[in-house]
Amino acid sequence: MMKENVLNYTQRKTAISYLLVLAASLLALSCMRGKPSTQTPIHLNPNMDDQARYDAMEASPFFADGREMRVPPAGTVARDEFHENDAFYYGKNEKGAFVDRIPMKVTEALMKRGQERYNIYCAPCHSRAGDGNGIVPKRGFLKPPSFHQDNIRSYPDGKIFDIISNGIRNMPAYRKQIWEEKDRWAIVAYVRALQRTHNATAADVPVDKLNQLK
Ligand code: HEC
Repeated sequence: MMKENVLNYTQRKTAISYLLVLAASLLALSCMRGKPSTQTPIHLNPNMDDQARYDAMEASPFFADGREMRVPPAGTVARDEFHENDAFYYGKNEKGAFVDRIPMKVTEALMKRGQERYNIYCAPCHSRAGDGNGIVPKRGFLKPPSFHQDNIRSYPDGKIFDIISNGIRNMPAYRKQIWEEKDRWAIVAYVRALQRTHNATAADVPVDKLNQLK
């Protein structure tokens, strides 16, 4: 005898068809992306997303000159850019001439730092000996002059500092890479040491070290 709550074959077929239609309609509904609209979307929490403000370089009817960006008052100096000491920051004295001497104390530590920085930043072109035979000119870049030629030996320290900072003719500026003035002066000290040793004679060697010369 058949139990009453079990579906017969025809009833099962009908039930399955209904379920299929339901599933198909759900699928169709879930894929519906709505219609395009020109209305702004509903923005439930504004979060200060839209505010009245100027973008950089925008025009402004508010100021007499029509520009929204204001010109800083004369004499304004950006934070950390107050360079009062021309000798240290630019290698120049108050008359604008190059200083003869490095405007800081030359210590062994500074010299070591200069050697290290020189070998990193200058030697690729000028060579470790300063004769201009670095690896870069060997590959086709213009060959720099030797530091040991008379005119460069007679440059004031400030001029070498300036060449490192701003470059000269075909040599690029190294102010951005060697951003600390102290490091640029350290390199000047080392270039001077290279020049000195290149032109040294036995008379420059302390007497007690003379016997170590080979
Ligand atoms: C990319 C290669 C390159 C590097 C790196 C480089 N130089 Fe030069 N340097 C040159 C060239 C090339 C010249 C010659 C420029 C010219 O006369 O057009 C030159 C010229 C010079 C001169 C002589 C300028 C003159 O009046 O004739 C000095 C001094 C000098 N460099 C110092 C340095 C120091 C110090 C560094 C390291 C901070 C350095 N250079 C890094 C390529 C380089």
